[in-house]
Amino acid sequence: MSQKSLNQIRETFLKYFEKNDHKIVESSNLVPNNDPTLMFANSGMVQFKNVFTGLEKRDYQRATTSQKCVRAGGKHNDLENVGYTPRHHTFFEMLGNFSFGDYFKEKAIHYAWDLITKDFGLDKNKIYVTVFHEDDEAFNFWKKIAGFNDDRIIRISTSDNFWSMGETGPCGPCSEIFYDHGDHLKGGLPGSKEEDGDRFIEIWNLVFMQYEQVSKDKRIDLPKPSVDTGMGLERISALLQGTHDNYETDHFKKLIQSTSNIVKKKPNQSNLSSFRVIADHLRASSFLIAEGVLPSNEGRGYVLRRIMRRGMRHSHLLGSKEPVFYNLFETLKNEMSGSYPELKRAESLIKETLKMEEEKFLVLLERGIKILNEEISKIDKVLPGDIAFKLYDTYGFPLDLTEDILRNKSLSIDTKKFQSLMKESRELAKKKLEGVWRCCS
Ligand code: SER
Repeated sequence: MSQKSLNQIRETFLKYFEKNDHKIVESSNLVPNNDPTLMFANSGMVQFKNVFTGLEKRDYQRATTSQKCVRAGGKHNDLENVGYTPRHHTFFEMLGNFSFGDYFKEKAIHYAWDLITKDFGLDKNKIYVTVFHEDDEAFNFWKKIAGFNDDRIIRISTSDNFWSMGETGPCGPCSEIFYDHGDHLKGGLPGSKEEDGDRFIEIWNLVFMQYEQVSKDKRIDLPKPSVDTGMGLERISALLQGTHDNYETDHFKKLIQSTSNIVKKKPNQSNLSSFRVIADHLRASSFLIAEGVLPSNEGRGYVLRRIMRRGMRHSHLLGSKEPVFYNLFETLKNEMSGSYPELKRAESLIKETLKMEEEKFLVLLERGIKILNEEISKIDKVLPGDIAFKLYDTYGFPLDLTEDILRNKSLSIDTKKFQSLMKESRELAKKKLEGVWRCCS
């Protein structure tokens, strides 16, 4: 069987569930329109939150999606890790199937098992699952459907196997599916001390949505038991393409190859993280701009600016003195506009925004790096917080950028001091604003 591309894997997933009476629903926007408390959509269930709780009705009870997600702010924030691991992203796609009061545990487990072992052809002997420790039902369905012995089904008592959207919202016990990438990699089974290694990787989370957390201490039943599942497209693509590294998939290889052509450098062990950061941050930035989020100094625009600037610093690290991102966009558009036409629609806005921000940033960067290097030459291990703050406040250098530069030199920052200066500055700004209101009202 020839290897499937990331685009084909997305298609296989959606078609599988369509064949099983699920409606293919478009990804919702990254900027949620039904939840002011959430910065960006970070999971497939976000657009269905009110359907689970019964507040909203749709004309279908089963759905499947590939949802655009950003985890770069708020409860789920992966920004600092991107580049340094094979699996972290700020932007990713979450594949999911949903039942709104229709099927529950048995069918959810049946579909998952059927898809991964038949359509995806995964080796059954490499699969392990977890269930919430009290969930005998899910435990027994796994035994029946997959024919697993007890030792392949691990009971977990922590929040790892009880999924909640946030402080409030739909929630329930979950069952996670893991794949063993082989003993040449370090890592242990879920629940063990070594679980964070690269060997046993979670590929799919099946949430049995049963409750709604309405306040910190109050949990009520959902109108009907439901299902929400989430599988990272980049991760399953890596697996199906014979690697545990998402950045080794066909999709990321194209982005990395384009970057390499533009900066005229080949990826190697010492610069790989920069190539990864650029590929990831190009995706996040382009999709956010496509929705009209623009770089700014607050809210979502600030998160976007941090992502863009972090990415742009890495193109600078690769030796580029000219803007790079807007040129890379073409490859991303060719790869993804088939599924996400907004990339085509917003092409000129995306390119213009990327170019302008990078031009502006390159000037700031040259100046900031010079100052930071002078300061680094004066310190032993820790950069004083007031210097990091000055870089941020006066030279437009976000803290994570300073941290990133220091990390490469095995140095750190006095973040406590930085945070206290940041707090002072915010309070001052608030007072000034109040002053403006007072004098103008
Ligand atoms: N909501 C669950 C998650 O994010 C399953 O989609 O893991």
